[in-house]
Amino acid sequence: MEKTRILVTGGTGYIGSHTVVELQNAGYEVIIIDNLSNSNINVLDGIEAITGKRPVFVEGDVCNIDTLKSIFEQYPGIKGIINFAASKAVGESIEKPSLYYRNNLVSLLNLLDLMPVYGVKGIVFSSSCTVYGEPDVNPVTEQTPIKSATSPYGNTKQISEEIITDVIKSGAPVKSVILRYFNPVGAHPSALIGELPNGVPQNLVPYLTQTAIGIREVLSVFGDDYDTPDGSCIRDFINVVDLAKAHVIAMDRMLTDRSEDSVEIFNLGTGNGVSVLELIQSFERSTGVKVNYKISPRRPGDIVKVWADPSHANNVLGWKAQETLDDTMLSAWKWQLQLRERGL
Ligand code: WQD
Repeated sequence: MEKTRILVTGGTGYIGSHTVVELQNAGYEVIIIDNLSNSNINVLDGIEAITGKRPVFVEGDVCNIDTLKSIFEQYPGIKGIINFAASKAVGESIEKPSLYYRNNLVSLLNLLDLMPVYGVKGIVFSSSCTVYGEPDVNPVTEQTPIKSATSPYGNTKQISEEIITDVIKSGAPVKSVILRYFNPVGAHPSALIGELPNGVPQNLVPYLTQTAIGIREVLSVFGDDYDTPDGSCIRDFINVVDLAKAHVIAMDRMLTDRSEDSVEIFNLGTGNGVSVLELIQSFERSTGVKVNYKISPRRPGDIVKVWADPSHANNVLGWKAQETLDDTMLSAWKWQLQLRERGL
């Protein structure tokens, strides 16, 4: 049976690579476009080692419409797109807003313009809980009011969701599933792929594992004087493989017209709010490795508390996060150990 072709933009990235593995495991044929601005081409070796199949890889920029056209022409019959390709560092977006608006929005507009031309049926869009800002009430549902963004990065996610909705409302013959991630963490259990940030990690878990292995001297906990049980911020840390599996379910649903709605939105989280200090305890408990951390001043722009009510995804997608936080922390540690084996 002919395999269904899927284009994955940003497919050598952290969530992208884990999603490519699950797409291939589910029998899809995957074509990756990635400009390698925040990922490494040897991720392809990891994907192949896990699934036994090497995805087609095109080095290129989704902002370049001619590159996209050449992919659609060279690989006819692409039925769906998963769009990960975007700049995603909150702090950097405040310093370089025009880069973020251009990169994240032009790439999406190019895809939406070309989809009807090449008969692409739907796009799964990588959004973020950041669209909720600091929610008045937790857990957040898909109906929780969207607050004005606290960073250009968050604003690009809000604007992207509006662009998708407006283009589809205008009658474009395409569908979309918008997935709002909470905090993706961990690595594939094989430890062959994982999170590999360029330079000094902005996110908590890679900084934590790099501290635990001795690359970083100490982990700063940005504030323990918040209005939370232990004073540190609360997040919904979701295992990256659980997250990847949700993308396959969303793609299946979209391509088989399981919903009359042409745009659907789902929160992807565990439903459990976990504090920064609790996450450190989880890491130490599951790995037996102590983390050298200190309490530091608050990081400007941080949300204090945000975690998901995932019942819409649980009930409608039939998807539920499976992995425990302890197992997820252990997977992150095993990945960091693998990186050391490879001299990274
Ligand atoms: C989590 C918590 C920090 C680093 C952002 C984006 C989100 C998504 C994930 C892209 C916060 C604390 C962190 C450190 C710390 N991005 N922390 N020491 O900010 O919740 O979410 O990244 O998809 O859209 O908004 O993630 O991991 O940076 O921070 O104490 O060295 O960990 O203060 O409370 P965040 P994060």
